[in-house]
Amino acid sequence: MNRDVVAYLRCPVCRETLEPGESRTLRCPRGHSFDLARQGYADLSAGRSPHTGDTAEMVAARAEFLAAGHYAAISTALAEAAAGATGLAVDVGGGTGQHLAVVLDQHPELRGLVVDASKPALRRAARAHDRAGAVRADAWGRLPLADHDTAVLLDVFAPRNGAEFHRVLRADGRLLVVTPEPDHLAELVAGLDLLSVDPAKEERLAAGLEPHFALTSRRSLRWTMRLDRAEVATVVGMGPSAWHRAPGTIDLPTPLDVTAAVRLDEFRPR
Ligand SMILES: C[S@@+](CC[C@H](N)C(=O)[O-])C[C@H]1O[C@@H](n2cnc3c(N)ncnc32)[C@H](O)[C@@H]1O
Ligand SMILES: [Zn+2]
Repeated sequence: MNRDVVAYLRCPVCRETLEPGESRTLRCPRGHSFDLARQGYADLSAGRSPHTGDTAEMVAARAEFLAAGHYAAISTALAEAAAGATGLAVDVGGGTGQHLAVVLDQHPELRGLVVDASKPALRRAARAHDRAGAVRADAWGRLPLADHDTAVLLDVFAPRNGAEFHRVLRADGRLLVVTPEPDHLAELVAGLDLLSVDPAKEERLAAGLEPHFALTSRRSLRWTMRLDRAEVATVVGMGPSAWHRAPGTIDLPTPLDVTAAVRLDEFRPR
C-alpha cells in the first residue's frame, strides 16, 4: 500500500500510527498487527465483523457499468468539488475506487483511501490508483483514521455516519455526498415495477448529517443513459436488494433511454 496513505491510518485497537511490518502486515508500536491481502488492501476491521458489503457479482457488474462511462458525470462532479483540497481524500463505501481514481487523477496533491466492507470491492480498489490505498472497515463503526486529519470525504450511494465523518474530517475539510433523486432510473422503476426512492428515508439520512454538518452547496446532475439489455440487468442488480431479480425476468425493449438523476451535496463540518 502507498506509504503516504499508510501514514494516515490508525490502529483500530489502540489508535496509534501504523507502519508496514514483516510478511505483508501493518503494525502499530504496541504490536497490533493486521494482514495485508495479496492484492494490497489491509483488513482493519479488527474483529468487528462488518456487513459483508457487495458480493463479487455485484462488484463486477458495477465495475463494468462504471467503466462503460455511464456514471462518469458523477466522477467529474466529485473531482470539481474537490478542487483546491490537499491531503487525504477518503471514499467511504467506495467500492472499486473508480470515482476516487478520477478525483486523484485530477488532483495530484491528493492521496486517496477507499474504505469498504466488501473484499471483492477492495481487491479492485487496492489497484485503483498509485496514490490510493484500500482498507476493510465498517462504515457504521470507528474508521481507522485520526481525528480531524482527512481533507475530503466522498460518499457515493453508501452508508453515511455523520458523527464519525465529523470526527475524521479536518475543520476546513469537505464532505461530498451523492444520493439518488426520486426520478433516478425512472424508466426502469416504472417498466419493471421496482421500488422508487423513499422520500422519508432521504429525510432520515439528511437528519443524520444535520447536527454535524452544514450544507454549503447542492448540485443536481441529470443525464440520459442509453442502455443495452445486459446494462439494464446490471443497473437493476446494482440497486437496492429489493430490486434484485433474475436477468430473464427483465423484459423491456432495448436499447432503452434511462434517466440518471442524482444530487451532489457538499457539507462543511459544524
Ligand atoms: C451502492 S455501492 C456504491 C459503491 C461506490 N461508492 C460507487 O459508487 O461505485 C455501496 C458500497 O458500500 C459498501 N458498504 C455497504 N455497507 C457497508 C458498511 N457497513 N461498511 C463499509 N462499506 C459498506 C458496499 O460493499 C458497496 O461497495
Ligand atoms: Zn495498536
